[in-house]
Amino acid sequence: MAGGIPREFIDDLLDRADIAEIIGERVKLARAGREYKGLCPFHQEKTPSFTVSPAKGFFHCFGCNAHGSAISFLMQHDRLDFPAAVEALADRYGLDVPRTGPARPSGKGLYELLQAVSRHYIKQLKGHSSAKEYLQGRGLTGEIARDFALGYSPKGNSALGRFGQTEEDRRRLVDAGLALKSDSGEFYDRFRNRIMFPIRDRRGRVASFGGRAMGDAQPKYMNGPETPVFHKGRELYGLYEMPRGKMPQCVLVEGYMDVIGLAQHQVKGAVAPLGTAVTPRQLSRLFSIVPSVVFCFDGDAAGRRAAERAMERTLPEMRAGRQLSFAFLPEGEDPDSFVHSRGAAAFREILEQAMPMSEFMVMSLSQKCDLATAEGRARMAELARPLLSATPLGVYRDLLVARLAEELRLREKRLLQLLQAAPARRGQWTRTARTQPDAAAAGPFDAMGKYLAGLVLNFPELPSAMDPLPELEHFPEPRVVLFRDLFERARGSPAAKAAKLLERYRERPEHELISALLAKPYPISPQQAQRELAGGIERLSRENAKRRMAARTLG
Ligand code: UTP
Ligand code: MN
Repeated sequence: MAGGIPREFIDDLLDRADIAEIIGERVKLARAGREYKGLCPFHQEKTPSFTVSPAKGFFHCFGCNAHGSAISFLMQHDRLDFPAAVEALADRYGLDVPRTGPARPSGKGLYELLQAVSRHYIKQLKGHSSAKEYLQGRGLTGEIARDFALGYSPKGNSALGRFGQTEEDRRRLVDAGLALKSDSGEFYDRFRNRIMFPIRDRRGRVASFGGRAMGDAQPKYMNGPETPVFHKGRELYGLYEMPRGKMPQCVLVEGYMDVIGLAQHQVKGAVAPLGTAVTPRQLSRLFSIVPSVVFCFDGDAAGRRAAERAMERTLPEMRAGRQLSFAFLPEGEDPDSFVHSRGAAAFREILEQAMPMSEFMVMSLSQKCDLATAEGRARMAELARPLLSATPLGVYRDLLVARLAEELRLREKRLLQLLQAAPARRGQWTRTARTQPDAAAAGPFDAMGKYLAGLVLNFPELPSAMDPLPELEHFPEPRVVLFRDLFERARGSPAAKAAKLLERYRERPEHELISALLAKPYPISPQQAQRELAGGIERLSRENAKRRMAARTLG
């Protein structure tokens, strides 16, 4: 299951999906043998290195290594999250996405209403010179106001007046987060006399609004509530407005105006959470678009505390291939004020000086301990423990441990012992590299496992005509394990498209290796592939028998 969508449905969808057609609507493709080629939409290039294989249901760019299934393409190209990409694909083939788990309240009709109200607010802005002057006074151009669809909600019940004719309409305004009902049963507009910022989801649908008071009215910002179509913890302000195409990094800022101010100064990729702290879900959404995220904070003490909290919250999302760093602005500045007064180049410089998460962790911990003394160093190890145990096992955590050990002038082994000495769960602090399938190959059979896995991926129809795998219980080699897994999955679903196999490893460390294997040409015939597969299984099974014997003699 993925996000409450049954696995079988995703399989079925990928079977139907014509990946060349879907990508062909967005990228100019030319046929090249059994595949298609074109200019990669994810990086700048003059000669095509972007290939699409309808047989595998897979795309791959040899230039920038973008790759994946039709679902991945929609996620990366149209900036959808996984459920939205599945939905877009399902729409195309006239299917309803089945959901497991509790039914969600329907958002039917709310998007249309929110869109209409957004148009109404835009129109109001045009007619209210004080609102226009406010935005001009903050240095915004008409163009940027248009890009972000800024509007104005007049005093009084303007939304209700136009869109709340019947009791039913008024209730829908409440459902959409645009109106409130008082205890005495009267309806009134939530947003009055405010600059309106529509919050658009990744498909561009207006999901909610934020509204800023123009004077000193409190609260300064009002945010729409959670509704069937708006989940604060999922959306990010500015994601939809970001330019299409590959982006090297995103900058996470605090507020609406920061996103807009940066966009106006051509600093691309700025997004903001919606009046709350950033959530793991928002972060993983960003990492599905870019490899690097920079958090931007005030340079004062409050900013550093906010950065520490952000670090604690985001460690569970960290893993190899994701870079998170912290940039600090001069005291009293926010990104919007800074970019207006000092310009884009100065802001980019701040981004370049951003501190990687590992450095920030070491810095913030070492400020709390005296590293010159043994007690201080022990305390630092103590403070690091909850942070490290919040980080998933893997290369990223190993890196943090190594960096801390360096700072503490301890051997890594000693640090791991220190971490283990305390009441933490046992066995939790072993290094993980050996169990990582994408770590360096551990031996000749790992190389073989990899080759066989590649054969299954490129000839996924073969296993269903072959005998089940013999038991290979004495093979801990990660790539042999991966091969076994792929073989069994392919056997279990005859006519499996390779993309389907790949899709099952989404969010798992093997995903990269499988993609690399899929991207590699296997210029052999199916007959030869079957012979090699059978031969390989035979060798593995002989080796397994040998190991079984050895284990028995030892035990
Ligand atoms: P700030 O108070 O830092 O405002 O709030 P700002 O972004 O610099 O806005 P301007 O420049 O004064 O217009 C940062 C974010 O915190 C949330 C909003 O999302 C805002 O963008 N916030 C702030 C609220 O939700 N409510 C408030 O009353 C204030
Ligand atoms: Mn500001």
